[in-house]
Amino acid sequence: MQKKIVLSGSRPTGNIHLGNYFGAIENWVSLQDTYECNFFIADWHALTTGYADTQDLKKNTISLIADFVACGLDPEKSTLFLQSSVKQHAELFLLFAMNTPLSWLERCPTYKDQLANLSDRDITTYGFLGYPALQAADILVYRADFVPVGEDQIPHLEITREIARRFNFLYSKEVFPEPLPLLTKAKVLPGTDGRKMSKSYGNTIALADTPDEVKKKVMSMITDPARIRKDDPGHPEICTVFAFHKIFNEAQVPEIEEQCRGGCIGCVACKRIMQEKIAVFHTPIHEKRQSLLENETHLRDIIEEGSRKASIKAEATMEMVRDAVRIGL
Ligand code: TRP
Ligand code: SF4
Repeated sequence: MQKKIVLSGSRPTGNIHLGNYFGAIENWVSLQDTYECNFFIADWHALTTGYADTQDLKKNTISLIADFVACGLDPEKSTLFLQSSVKQHAELFLLFAMNTPLSWLERCPTYKDQLANLSDRDITTYGFLGYPALQAADILVYRADFVPVGEDQIPHLEITREIARRFNFLYSKEVFPEPLPLLTKAKVLPGTDGRKMSKSYGNTIALADTPDEVKKKVMSMITDPARIRKDDPGHPEICTVFAFHKIFNEAQVPEIEEQCRGGCIGCVACKRIMQEKIAVFHTPIHEKRQSLLENETHLRDIIEEGSRKASIKAEATMEMVRDAVRIGL
């Protein structure tokens, strides 16, 4: 039986951190054997909000390939590619731009949200408004069945489905299947300050961080403020360190919880235990990433080969699309 097609992407906006890993990449890795997977670096998407600030784009692209591979995305199993190397995304985006109603884009919740929040940049641009149509092109150009994404991307996927439906209707051909989200029960890992882990909060633990930096970040995490002395009873449910234990030290969670509530363990000792566990997870991935970055040519080869494979798939769809639209001779 033909494997179902999966597609997802990530913007090259900086280094992958543990929040990204547990929120998405871990799941992508697990899909590789079951589905025909396509994972890409959304560099055109990065321009929708970052068009004025592209100094780090190439560097971030290379380091994202390294992060992908270090996390276990396997170029032998999955097609790993760079969006801007597969021009068919742009061609399909152009065609969608012709028939996507402005109202669909204007009512997109992430559009309204980001317009209000990214007040430090001017994103009142055509490309920013149109980016759900670009995302639709990313997905539909592979005729993907499933898109593993977080909750926040659901509105974009809904627009993608509407765009697919409208295209099929306008040109009376079932060119595009309507892709479904593949929602992950993502493990939620807070940032080192207890808020959502996010680059813009400066509270991340990145794969790029050295083991020493990770250690420092862990040891300076905020714990339950009620615990001043070691025998003060603690409240693990409000403690960031405890949230990390749940992911990196599952086996000892009941014991830590009891000792914390009973005031039998100090926060420094508790952090030290967790720090050792996080290192077991983080250090090998970090080292893999660093060694991959030592051979940039190899990383470029991976992404070039992936982009070549992606272009073949995308071109097959575009032949159906051009034919349906009756564009060209
Ligand atoms: N918009 C996504 C994000 O900001 C990235 C992305 C672009 C994407 N195209 C995609 C994700 C297609 C899934 C499918 O994170
Ligand atoms: Fe948090 Fe551990 Fe301190 Fe309890 S003992 S408050 S779980 S760091």
